[in-house]
Amino acid sequence: MKTFKIELNNENETLSFGKDLASFLTSNDILVLSGDLGSGKTKLTQGILSYFGLEDEISSPTFTIVNEYNAKNMNIYHFDVYRLSDSSEFLEIGGEEYFDKGLCIIEWGEMILDVLPPDYIHIFFKRDFNDENRRILECEFHGNKGVDKFEDFINRYSK
Ligand SMILES: Nc1ncnc2c1ncn2[C@@H]1O[C@H](COP(=O)(O)OP(=O)(O)O)[C@@H](O)[C@H]1O
Ligand SMILES: [Mg+2]
Repeated sequence: MKTFKIELNNENETLSFGKDLASFLTSNDILVLSGDLGSGKTKLTQGILSYFGLEDEISSPTFTIVNEYNAKNMNIYHFDVYRLSDSSEFLEIGGEEYFDKGLCIIEWGEMILDVLPPDYIHIFFKRDFNDENRRILECEFHGNKGVDKFEDFINRYSK
């Protein structure tokens, strides 16, 4: 696993970081986003979607569990699994079938780690209580082969 930590000073930096990450993502990648309510998980997703030319204002899939977006060469599935009780419920709704259909971004996905394939990115969002616009992100790249294509991205942000 490779990791790095990044500080984002305002929401525009979070959007740009999402855009930058998106340029390395391909179909079948899985991105797990963990962090308290309001920590920026949906904002980062918005940055990713904007890279693919998708809408500026995205709706949070809190009630629908998953929102689907279709970019030119990629389907994007934006999940919010907060309302599911565990990974077996994720399997019951057919969640696993999305993994090979497109890019999956899963808010609160720490709950379903046991049903994920070995290659995935896990980002932990933390707030800074001295600055309401600052976020600290810890990014983990899991898997072996899966990490290779992110090497330039990881090097760019590693200190
Ligand atoms: N650096 C930052 N990165 C992301 N969001 C930020 C940042 N600073 C302030 N915010 C605000 O925090 C909120 C994050 O909300 P959201 O992305 O919906 O969080 P989550 O999906 O984690 O619940 C937004 O209102 C956004 O404007
Ligand atoms: Mg959200």
